[in-house]
Amino acid sequence: MISSLRGMNDILSEDYERFTYFISVATKVAQRYGFHFIETPLLEETALFKRSVGESSDIVGKEMYQFIDKGDNDVCLRPEGTAGVVRAFVQKKLDRAGGTHRFFYHGAMFRYERPQKGRLRQFHQFGVESFGEASVYEDASMIMMASDILKELGIGYRLQLNSLGCNECMPPYKENLVNFVTKFKDEICEDCTRRVATNPIRVLDCKNEKCQDIYKDAPKLINSLCSSCESDFIVLKNILTQNSIDFEIDTNLVRGLDYYSKTAFEFVSDNIGSQSAIAGGGRYDRLVEFLDGRPTPAVGFAMGIERLMELIVMPEVKKDGYYLGAMDDEALDMIVKIAHKKRKDDIVTLEYKTKNLKNHLKAADKANVKYCAVIGSNEIKDGTIWVKNLEDKTENTILIGAF
Ligand code: HAM
Repeated sequence: MISSLRGMNDILSEDYERFTYFISVATKVAQRYGFHFIETPLLEETALFKRSVGESSDIVGKEMYQFIDKGDNDVCLRPEGTAGVVRAFVQKKLDRAGGTHRFFYHGAMFRYERPQKGRLRQFHQFGVESFGEASVYEDASMIMMASDILKELGIGYRLQLNSLGCNECMPPYKENLVNFVTKFKDEICEDCTRRVATNPIRVLDCKNEKCQDIYKDAPKLINSLCSSCESDFIVLKNILTQNSIDFEIDTNLVRGLDYYSKTAFEFVSDNIGSQSAIAGGGRYDRLVEFLDGRPTPAVGFAMGIERLMELIVMPEVKKDGYYLGAMDDEALDMIVKIAHKKRKDDIVTLEYKTKNLKNHLKAADKANVKYCAVIGSNEIKDGTIWVKNLEDKTENTILIGAF
């Protein structure tokens, strides 16, 4: 038997119900915030992710599904959605059009990670990206939107917040941090030694306990923000407080992708084990320019659908549609004809096997339909159909023409 690849799951049956319910709720909320659907390819030039997510990130450094295609192009399956949306934004020259442009998307992402509970190699994200709005109110709107989606799905969360500063305050902070970490160069892990050379702030979210112990006393970016980043961060915290969105400041939250500046945030759940991040995002004001567009402020986030599916409180599924069955072979043609007509508007479960009434009712109950409609030899003679409403339990025999 051929099985699916490690870390790549099928989505069917009850999971599919959860998956589509999530997409429908998230889509509705994103549209309420003025976002429009965008679809970008699963396969992109590898250079796109190297220039955006960053060569020093684990995602680009270790986890890409990268290959040379038949035309000798260096391509890879997208590990995340932001880079492709930015590429599309620049390619369509929307960076030259001015104004704000807001997009949402959902689809499969691919990262060659070590699979474990909550960590897949093919997973799905729902993401949103907003271009052209430099105001921190947009950052707040993003966080409120993510919070609205989670609340509507009945999912509790903790929101972690940080500011990663800007071109003005980040470089001197990095220098400070490197000076601090260098004092411990013989004690930090191999990964951190590499990070100090490539992207020093990534040392802060190292999972190694010994490193974490050392970095407890490291300088904090939040204490070195320039006045503009600091005042934006104060405004953001105020808006969230005014809108009853609780948050924790996590000065070690640096995110696993290199394109962020200023606001960075993650929503985590305490109910799904160690892979607890259910959504993450932030501001990335320099990325459009990195990808050859006109400088355009931008902010966004993405949610991990598989992680959320475990947590969704599903609404009660209402009985819906019809079950059609025959008690005699001679009634089969008639129920097929009726089903064809009914399916123009309704969901119809059609049973091809003839059964007695009791068994048809049992099957209709299992199919969770609202009506069970059955034709036997008597009904054929009279041109009628027997219908039971499985909600209020009323039974009627009606003319087929009126059904
Ligand atoms: P990210 O934090 O890498 O951000 O991913 C967002 C979410 O995707 C995570 O919080 C998690 O729920 C889910 N996720 C990530 N990796 C896996 C995995 N291996 N298995 C299952 N779920 C996973 C981004 O991707 C950014 N593009 C978000 C963003 C949009 N920033 C700005 N705009």
